[in-house]
Amino acid sequence: PTEKCLLFGNLHQYRGFWHPTKILQTILTCQNQFEARDSDIYLVTLPKSGTTWLKAMAFALVNRTQYDPKSTQHPLLSYNPHQLVPFLEFPHNDVVSSTPRLFSTHLPFVSLPESVKKSGSKIVYLCRNPKDNFVSRFHWQNKLRRQELGSISLEEAFESFCRGVYIYGPIWDHALGYWKQSLENPERVLFLKYDEMKEDPGNHLRKLADFIGCPFSKEKESFNVVDQISELCSFDHLSNLEVNRTGKLPSGVINSNFFRRGEVGDWKNHLTPQMAQKLDEIIKQKLGASGLTF
Ligand code: A3P
Repeated sequence: PTEKCLLFGNLHQYRGFWHPTKILQTILTCQNQFEARDSDIYLVTLPKSGTTWLKAMAFALVNRTQYDPKSTQHPLLSYNPHQLVPFLEFPHNDVVSSTPRLFSTHLPFVSLPESVKKSGSKIVYLCRNPKDNFVSRFHWQNKLRRQELGSISLEEAFESFCRGVYIYGPIWDHALGYWKQSLENPERVLFLKYDEMKEDPGNHLRKLADFIGCPFSKEKESFNVVDQISELCSFDHLSNLEVNRTGKLPSGVINSNFFRRGEVGDWKNHLTPQMAQKLDEIIKQKLGASGLTF
């Protein structure tokens, strides 16, 4: 099936998820051509779920012996996190590489390249509560829409969100795909929540470090290193850097667009109680007895 997208022309449903024509082509190419390595780390998110934050954290973690988190030469001070961790499904020649390889993707589990599924690589999934995800998407879409298209109304965007018809949606099926994998295969898939990570970034950094195989050693690394990485990657720090206030990605996307408020619960400033209730009911029904809650 095909539907009109509020941002990218037509959306096509592929394996249960919605993709714009151009991106679907790159997904199919990536499925055929991408060669995974056992040592790879994949950061999986839906757009507007904290991708930028997770990229920064993972990059700082795996490279912390090469780049001291306090160093004035740290790549995160002069590059946007999207320049340090490439998207699997988009061209990624112009990216600073790291070892082990770090990739991010918005792909649902069903559409990951077979080479990724079959490899012994690690997958970190970060989800965000759907109401905040919706509000963040809504602002993002309106920022990206070329002026002549005019802005999208909240009601129009909300209606599409409730039907699951938006880029990489629906959120419930996307999250459930990885949730199930994390239960069946916890050594391979780590499931994280943005909302919980905001509450305690330090503990999440430790969990992430353990999972991706670069744990903090109590002897050599004081707890300060965790705090330093947490601070380096914080919304306040990253969003105020010159590169993120004024820079642009090679794709043309403005770096500052990746930073808006970075808070939990902003939906309360945008959704009516009726909208919130409607979405809560849909989510409750879709997640059913899976054990996943937001
Ligand atoms: P808001 O629009 O709610 O502010 P993504 O990186 O997946 O595109 O998600 C963008 C969302 O994450 C935006 O949410 C953005 O402000 C927030 N964000 C970006 N960097 C962050 C950080 N370092 N810490 C917490 N949230 C961050």
